[in-house]
Amino acid sequence: LNLILMGLPGAGKGTQAEKINEAYHIPHISTGDMFRLAIKEGTELGRKAKEYMDQGALVPDDVTIGIVKERLSKDDCKNGFLLDGFPRTIAQAEALQSLLNEMGTSIDYVLHVDVPEEHLVERLTGRRVCPTCGATYHVIYNPPEQAGRCDHDGSELIQREDDQADTVKNRLEVNLKQAKPLLDFYHDKGSLVTINGDQEIDQVFQDIQSAIEK
Ligand code: AP5
Ligand code: ZN
Repeated sequence: LNLILMGLPGAGKGTQAEKINEAYHIPHISTGDMFRLAIKEGTELGRKAKEYMDQGALVPDDVTIGIVKERLSKDDCKNGFLLDGFPRTIAQAEALQSLLNEMGTSIDYVLHVDVPEEHLVERLTGRRVCPTCGATYHVIYNPPEQAGRCDHDGSELIQREDDQADTVKNRLEVNLKQAKPLLDFYHDKGSLVTINGDQEIDQVFQDIQSAIEK
């Protein structure tokens, strides 16, 4: 099962990816997570990515395509994978296409998690994440059992740097510009499925499951 999760910042890609990963046991490949890990480890890739991420801009295509290529060549992707937040530009979509051709495989579904733009700022500014296990919460919509602590490991939850109100605005603008041509690209290929992301988290996941198992 080869999946792409698409959607604007805050649409719920990471939240649904956790659930898909649990249910279908396919590796969750998030370019955003890979960049954040590189920043934490202080690598060259991290230094490069940070410049762009701090401004809410996209990391250049060659860098992003490079890390995805490397990741998809690993053995655990042979029986399926879940791409989260990639591709985000037509150049990335085309690069992915030729990579999959080389691998002799293709995308089964592009799941577009659709949420009205006006809800996204609130989702992003209220998001809290666990620095230890990466779990995602929301202060109102998905609070942890104990305020400010991760349910899995008790770590103190933090706010992502790019979830500050001023960066959020730019991220949304940048991603909105890319969204339409990408959706058209996959619509034309016949693999696009639109999922209503403006529902309870579990309902969104049920809709994803029905789409996949149809
Ligand atoms: P990335 O980490 O991918 O960020 P993003 O696309 O902005 O998406 P988010 O992680 O912010 O949102 P999400 O859709 O995963 O939402 P979540 O589930 O957390 O990328 C970060 C940066 O890296 C980019 O800005 C760019 O610089 C760079 N980058 C990454 N990929 C790139 C690429 N391909 N090319 C170039 N640059 C790239 O949910 C959000 C909040 O809402 C949470 O608090 C959650 O609990 C809550 N929530 C989720 N679902 C619901 C629901 N149904 N109802 C109510 N609340 C909900
Ligand atoms: Zn945790």
